[in-house]
Amino acid sequence: MSSENIGKHAIPAGQENAHIKAADYDRLYAESVNDPEAFWGREGKRLDWIKPFTKVKNTDFTFGNVSIKWFEDGVLNVSVNCIDRHLPARADQTAIIWEPDNPSDPAQHITYAQLSENVNRMANVLRDLGVRKGDRVVIYLPMIPEAAYAMLACARIGAVHSIVFAGFSPDALANRINDSGAQILITADHAPRGGRSTALKSNADQALLNCSDKVKCLVVKHTGDQTTWTEGKDIDLKALMADAGTECEPEPMGAEDLLFILYTSGSTGKPKGVVHTTGGYLVYASMTHEYVFDYHDGDVYWCTADVGWVTGHSYIVYGPLANGATTLMFEGVPTWPDAGRFWEVCAKHKVNQFYTAPTAIRALMGKGPEFVEKHDLSSLRLLGTVGEPINPEAWNWYDEHVGKGKCPIVDTWWQTETGGHMITPLPGATETKPGSATVPFFGVKPEILEAESARPVTGNPAEGVLCIADSWPGQMRTVWGDHERFMETYFQQYPGYYFTGDGCRRDEDGYYWITGRVDDVINVSGHRMGTAEVESALVAHEKVAEAAVVGYPHPVKGQGIYAYVTLMNGVEPTEELRAELEKWVRGEIGPIAKPDLIQWAPGMPKTRSGKIMRRILRKIAENDYGSLGDISTLAEPEVVDDLIENRMNRG
Ligand code: WTA
Repeated sequence: MSSENIGKHAIPAGQENAHIKAADYDRLYAESVNDPEAFWGREGKRLDWIKPFTKVKNTDFTFGNVSIKWFEDGVLNVSVNCIDRHLPARADQTAIIWEPDNPSDPAQHITYAQLSENVNRMANVLRDLGVRKGDRVVIYLPMIPEAAYAMLACARIGAVHSIVFAGFSPDALANRINDSGAQILITADHAPRGGRSTALKSNADQALLNCSDKVKCLVVKHTGDQTTWTEGKDIDLKALMADAGTECEPEPMGAEDLLFILYTSGSTGKPKGVVHTTGGYLVYASMTHEYVFDYHDGDVYWCTADVGWVTGHSYIVYGPLANGATTLMFEGVPTWPDAGRFWEVCAKHKVNQFYTAPTAIRALMGKGPEFVEKHDLSSLRLLGTVGEPINPEAWNWYDEHVGKGKCPIVDTWWQTETGGHMITPLPGATETKPGSATVPFFGVKPEILEAESARPVTGNPAEGVLCIADSWPGQMRTVWGDHERFMETYFQQYPGYYFTGDGCRRDEDGYYWITGRVDDVINVSGHRMGTAEVESALVAHEKVAEAAVVGYPHPVKGQGIYAYVTLMNGVEPTEELRAELEKWVRGEIGPIAKPDLIQWAPGMPKTRSGKIMRRILRKIAENDYGSLGDISTLAEPEVVDDLIENRMNRG
């Protein structure tokens, strides 16, 4: 169905008190892009500054010269903005509701006073261990309150955190520790999830075998189950916190000092460390959290992401806490003990705003509406999605069964690199269309360019690659340790623009529809995975000669991982080997990288110069072999027939 045929959904009733109303959007948007100094100068004041900024924007997208600075002469501390400044009015208000994996274990309600105490204690522990401003700390934790304490403790003393999702393998963890040069790793004994438990500490032990022996391992004894323990190297974090002082002087930070590094997959090479700084990032996270979720004092807000991803950074911890909100942290999974868990938690804690990924909605939709209907969802006022395009069927199911037709749905398009929402409805201002992220947020200037010519496509409708024409405060500043790579990845191909890597359509009404990645990144259950990473994991196996990985449409995950594998001469392709390779990739990267389909490929379609033609592999994986295009430039066109003959997902 074309976008023009899908009707707009009117703004649901009850949005009269929304922060941004329909009448405000056009005026504020125009100001934000025409006079960013005035607009952001005002929004910058939503934070408490130790030394107020006098400069607002100083940004340059020129390739070779890219530099992004916001509020550059301001001085602040992020943890003070997320904690201390709320204490006079909200010491006893719940900051974090922690819902454990097992529903029969008690939830915790952590007040702002308790958050302050825990963060200060942990900050003192880190300082006592010699951690100073600018030092990196890697965090490898499950979804427990200590993950938030660790982030804020780093922010308090000016250390730069780098969170590694607890589902990543020891190798992936070691690479990130080494690339960031961290000398502190914070982990936990075990990570319960969905009734099972991952031995996180033993993953950490394995990772540290490949790191400098200077790296200290701080362990949160979370489940209390047995782990290995090396005296002198492993440190019991909770025990040190119990002895530490409850006041830790915050480090004054320049607005452009680093807040965190978060590794994310790109189209080539190893994951890159996306760098975010303190001032602009926090202004942007706070503002988008308030306006996009229409957060009001007293609301209970829940984002189901993991703090290992950017969504958890901006919309579980920094945005909500900067706004003095009550934010829910969930340790478990949507389908355990049953497919009603999300809704049970919403009912139990009277959640007002609920934010999740389309893949979760599709998975739950498949289990039937009875799991939703048995819970009281009357507290819900707003629903959100993020991570991948949402298909209209899933949108409508969410609207009807979860929102009961009464909740605005915000489909928020953004990226690790953008720090916060970029294209999204505002609940009191924007009519929605199922599947469209709708219109740009304040200060965001999307532009659709012709992929080949790099010419802007003006007028509507338009289709091409999505670029952004000017900077916004939440934008990443550089790639950790490699500013050249930053410029080459995002500013070279389309000069003068930030290139998002996404394809996009703009319809007759000027609404944006993200069509998915145009580079070699695939989006599996809303998680970014570089095809190059999975390929290098596969070829690291002794029986694999060559591997090519592409994405294909998957009914629940959005995209699945399709791997073409050429085995070493003389190696038999067997089902056992297939299972072994799946396990191998899980071990090399983590469960999220496990190929969904592995096809044995005696030959790959290559150009005469030896380059694999992924376009063809993608078409075969998509079952779209009728439109392979020109294959005459292939060195051996007949390999294509074999690949089609043996394709894995026959439709
Ligand atoms: C995709 C997650 C369509 C997109 C915050 C982007 C989306 C990548 C949406 C970034 C959405 C994210 N509609 N596609 N609402 N949100 N994406 O860095 O391809 O993990 O480039 O950030 O996810 O993924 P990342």
